[in-house]
Amino acid sequence: MPLMEWTPKLSVGVEQFDNEHKKLVGMVNELFDAAQAGRGKDALGPILDKLIEYTKTHFKNEESRMTAHKYADLAAHKAEHDALTRQVLEVQAKYKAGASAALSMEVLNFLKNWLVKHIQGTDKKYGPFMNEHGVK
Ligand SMILES: [Fe+2]
Repeated sequence: MPLMEWTPKLSVGVEQFDNEHKKLVGMVNELFDAAQAGRGKDALGPILDKLIEYTKTHFKNEESRMTAHKYADLAAHKAEHDALTRQVLEVQAKYKAGASAALSMEVLNFLKNWLVKHIQGTDKKYGPFMNEHGVK
């Protein structure tokens, strides 16, 4: 069983960003599966790194679209991206510094909620705006 699933409830109405969100969901699940399988830091560390790298790419992609179309809530949205990035970098730093190779369910659930809350609470708001600007 995956930790989380992308469902149409998470759709923001823009295909590119839905696809990117699906990829992020896939990476959180990959991390969960590796943790469940009891894999070590050598396996979990790179998956976490990959998730962070892709998160940064994805946030930049959203921000450049919002910038291009002069989205009014860009500053607030970007501030949220920055806060989310800091949170996930903190998770990474703690994991790397910690003695244990295990990633707790608390951390995994945090990542799941981190993603779902942002998509449902903040990303969804740009959907109608993007659609009006021909971005679907
Ligand atoms: Fe976003």
